[in-house]
Amino acid sequence: MCGIIGCTGAFPALDVLRGGLRALEYRGYDSAGIAFFNADSDILTVKASGKIKNLEDKLDTIPDSEKISFCGIGHTRWATHGEPTERNAHPHGNDRVQIVHNGIIENYRELSVMLSREGYSFKSETDTEVASLLIDFSYKKQGNDPLKALAKARSQLEGSYAIGAVFSDRAGEIYAMRRDNPLIIGLGESESFIASDITAILPYTRKYIRLGENEIARLSGKNVTVFDEYGNACEKQTETALWDVDSAKKGGYPHFMIKEIYEEPDALAKTLAPRISSDLLPNFEGENIDVKRLASSKRIIITACGTAMHAGFIAKYFIEKYARIPVNVEIASEMRYSDMIIDENDAVIVISQSGETADTLAALRLAKNKGAFVTSVVNVVGSTIARESDAVIYTWAGPEIAVASTKAYVVQSALMSLLALAMSLEKKILTESEVKALTGKLLHDLPSDIKYILDMRDEIYSAAQYFADKKDLFCVGRGIDYFAAVEASLKIKEVSYIHSEAYAAGEMKHGTISLIENGTPVIVVSTDKNVRQKIVGNIRELASRGAYIISLSTPDREISDVSDKMLSLPSESGEFLPIAVATLLQMIAYRAAVLKGCDVDCPRNLAKSVTVE
Ligand code: F6R
Repeated sequence: MCGIIGCTGAFPALDVLRGGLRALEYRGYDSAGIAFFNADSDILTVKASGKIKNLEDKLDTIPDSEKISFCGIGHTRWATHGEPTERNAHPHGNDRVQIVHNGIIENYRELSVMLSREGYSFKSETDTEVASLLIDFSYKKQGNDPLKALAKARSQLEGSYAIGAVFSDRAGEIYAMRRDNPLIIGLGESESFIASDITAILPYTRKYIRLGENEIARLSGKNVTVFDEYGNACEKQTETALWDVDSAKKGGYPHFMIKEIYEEPDALAKTLAPRISSDLLPNFEGENIDVKRLASSKRIIITACGTAMHAGFIAKYFIEKYARIPVNVEIASEMRYSDMIIDENDAVIVISQSGETADTLAALRLAKNKGAFVTSVVNVVGSTIARESDAVIYTWAGPEIAVASTKAYVVQSALMSLLALAMSLEKKILTESEVKALTGKLLHDLPSDIKYILDMRDEIYSAAQYFADKKDLFCVGRGIDYFAAVEASLKIKEVSYIHSEAYAAGEMKHGTISLIENGTPVIVVSTDKNVRQKIVGNIRELASRGAYIISLSTPDREISDVSDKMLSLPSESGEFLPIAVATLLQMIAYRAAVLKGCDVDCPRNLAKSVTVE
């Protein structure tokens, strides 16, 4: 999704803006631009469609003397209104004001009609340009007072926004405001920053404040003042980011995606170890969650989007199995507009890596409005979802930069499994010794199986090579293996652009098997021994119609015999093996994408942290 960076103070602005835009690339974008005050205090705006390199090439054509600057704003745009052209790239505005904007202005049509009547015309197709000219209109009306202009515009803008603005007669100053879209303010020694997220400013500072809903900020050098919605200057709490600069770099890996897959064992240790006592019992004491309350729920509703929702499927499986509580997994973008029956007796669990996904946040708010107690499982500390939940459990996966979520999924799934065991203990369903045995599998055997899988390079390559040039494939499994197949299918689609469908293996013959032709690749996940014989039957049905079967199973002669290729899985993690299988499938998806020459970390049309609907 779009990214914002801005800086004012001691550092050369163009260096900070370029570095910040590069750091924000991971969010997904299709054009970029900057606006900065030059040595004569004039605002220069430069934009380009496509990659940041195109923007840099344009900047290179400007004489160095014109680029001396200590204040500016920059933006990576992920198109929503209007094509990803240079004309639509941010910043937008005129000779008095330039703004960068994340989010969507919902009433931009009405506002543009009003502004046209006032003599404004528009150069782009964007809602952001309308917002910029509305701010300009207010600026003129409010006697060139940026704070009053922004406050007036805020009362007229509908929708979600994080906005950074510069005004031509306020050289060295940056203004910012936000509603329903995150923005942080970095605090340096002699400078300050605005940014969509901390990764953009980590090289300069780890200290930051969060701009609150409807607040407006003024930054000038190191001086930052935040005004509440009534215009009063307010105290803000300074936070310190725990992530270091290196964690947001590739560290020798060719892509963030593969780096993050290799980080999974470590992320698991960081997330699970603090929640497991020395005698291997789950221990959430001292955390802001209420295991008793969750365990006593009649029903649990898990809501999330995409991969995070797929971790919800794994959670459903283990909560139902160990804690015997019925679990519904709801697509957040559907739940937010549904008339779902939900009340104070329901426990709702929201899963989100970024903690900022607009649909997930909306589902959370709906659940809270209906009286449900909401617990969130979030990776980004202090994110909006974390703050708005009644309780929060953090995954400690570190920054996830690649658009495709990998390590976050693995830690979400494992953490939810641990929570299921804690609930089981609370309900006295499993005995302490049974729980200890399972907790040990999660803490020790799961990371060790993942490490084993990370070394299966040749098998991974050969599986990916088979289907990398195919147009379609299927991922199938039964029970929890079906849930693993669903996530595998998404991962393959998003990074390698191969059409993939996930199916419950037994369901194929009810229609979809008609799509199987000679050589159609079918990835079969088979870890669940209870349905082993059934899956063998399903493989036979598919193979006899020409499917090329790639099975993922613990060593099994029969499955190997009926498959074209079998990748032998380790088995130490037992019931939790489907979580380790995710690593294998992520590696296969990654390898296929690399073989096809895809932009692995920033797949086309996708964005990290989907902060618009
Ligand atoms: C896919 C992927 C997405 C996210 C989804 C939710 O690899 O990353 O499907 O899982 O957009 O994002 P979060 O977890 O940030 O709420």
